[in-house]
Amino acid sequence: MLLVLTLWQALSQALAASGGSHWTYEGSYGQAHWPEKYPDCGRQAQSPLDIQTDLVRYDPSLPPVEPEGYRNPGSGSLTLTNNGHTVQLSLPEDLRLHGLPSIYSAAQLHFHWGSSKDRAGGSEHRVDGLAFPAELHVVHFNSEKYANLSVAKHQPDGLAVLGIFLEVDSVENPAYNHILDHLDRITYAEQEVAVAPFSVRELLPAHLGHYYRYNGSLTTPPCYQSVLWTVFRQPARISAAQLEKLQKSLYSTKDGKTPSELLVGNFRVPQFLNQRVVFSSFPVGPSGYSAGEIIAIIIVVLLGCLGVFLAGWILAKRTR
Ligand SMILES: *[C@@H]1O[C@H](CO)[C@@H](O)[C@H](O)[C@H]1NC(C)=O
Ligand SMILES: *[C@@H]1O[C@H](CO)[C@@H](O)[C@H](O)[C@H]1NC(C)=O
Repeated sequence: MLLVLTLWQALSQALAASGGSHWTYEGSYGQAHWPEKYPDCGRQAQSPLDIQTDLVRYDPSLPPVEPEGYRNPGSGSLTLTNNGHTVQLSLPEDLRLHGLPSIYSAAQLHFHWGSSKDRAGGSEHRVDGLAFPAELHVVHFNSEKYANLSVAKHQPDGLAVLGIFLEVDSVENPAYNHILDHLDRITYAEQEVAVAPFSVRELLPAHLGHYYRYNGSLTTPPCYQSVLWTVFRQPARISAAQLEKLQKSLYSTKDGKTPSELLVGNFRVPQFLNQRVVFSSFPVGPSGYSAGEIIAIIIVVLLGCLGVFLAGWILAKRTR
């Protein structure tokens, strides 16, 4: 009995060490249990966040993010994989990001989404409590300092991820079909397909100058706190039919396993901000003013009204 127990412990430790421990979003292996097998998931600088715009600090020195090579990702095919948790596209290292504290090279992109039945949510990040139907993550590693993603993902300054909200629009976004058109060939977990290279830039919003920036983590186990996040203000747009394809094409289970389970609702709930600050590259708040500026404007307007009222009152008194 003791031997079996020891063997079992050794096995589960080996699995956790290799990143192979089973995890899901709901149920007994769900996100509330991630910290048991993956202690970093319980730390204090986790992602995603519900970005509270009244707490965001505007930093006018934050430059636009500049992707390099995104329009022409080489001639070799890219690999699209259903890994049971998401659909992931491999990206060549010669796609790079400038405008961050280091130069970062691309590794992969993947998606998070909700379900077509439960229309609430899908994105991981939220803004003032509001979720979008899906979110794209483009994962990069610090190639100035580290050899590859495997080394960089453990380092505090190892990764940079671009977060792009996806919103539903009346027209189709042809760039997304370079991915969505292949989902029916990777229906089950662990299936992959080769995809012809296409302009990855077209998956991003037009405006790369306006974004939120903070230090956080991977949003899936092992939840390493190694990510410098850039979450763009402007969403990318896809059609309702395109969103539905994302929500209905994939299973989180392997081919032949019954019952099969649709791959939906693969988003982590917002984590506590704790001691962190979210910065923005643009003045936040309605009509582009920060909360402080809005209060100042209201006070000035009120004082102005009072002045006009007093002037009118004095004038009326004199003419009487
Ligand atoms: C990443 O780089 C390290 C150090 O150079 C090397 O040992 C390792 O094999 C590389 N891993 C991959 C997946 O290329
Ligand atoms: C992220 O953490 C590093 C190291 O502590 C710090 O220098 C940097 O200012 C932080 N960046 C943001 C956006 O908070």
